[in-house]
Amino acid sequence: MEIAWRLAAKFWSKGYATEAAKAVLNYALTELNIPEIFSFTAVANTKSQRVMEKIGLHHSDDDDFDHPKLDKNSPLSRHVIYRLTDEEYLEMMNHI
Ligand SMILES: CC(C)(COP(=O)(O)OP(=O)(O)OC[C@H]1O[C@@H](n2cnc3c(N)ncnc32)[C@H](O)[C@@H]1OP(=O)(O)O)[C@@H](O)C(=O)NCCC(=O)NCCS
Repeated sequence: MEIAWRLAAKFWSKGYATEAAKAVLNYALTELNIPEIFSFTAVANTKSQRVMEKIGLHHSDDDDFDHPKLDKNSPLSRHVIYRLTDEEYLEMMNHI
């Protein structure tokens, strides 16, 4: 199950994406009981990756992939995956 976000530019950098994503992540893992949440984006989209990091998802180089619908030479081709399991989430919440 993927978590994703898109806001109109005039609302960027106010913390809205992070605040909303935290609420969705909590709902997905504790109410819907989804065992693991993923989020992915282009390597160049560091702003979106920052949201992933701030809500507690983690990245491994081993998961990186070339998006199958993009030309391999596109600067947007290479993608990163961030992820978090329900157990990791509960552990994280116990330390806040
Ligand atoms: C990604 C997106 C949802 C972020 O929304 P947002 O409301 O600006 O996010 P937040 O304000 O919650 O957090 C943004 C974080 O990125 C950081 N940031 C801002 N500009 C940045 C940049 N150019 N590079 C890296 N980080 C950046 C901010 O400083 C903030 O981190 P901080 O709290 O540690 O300072 C928004 O930029 C967007 O809609 N982009 C277009 C759609 C998109 O790319 N969606 C993701 C597709 S995978």
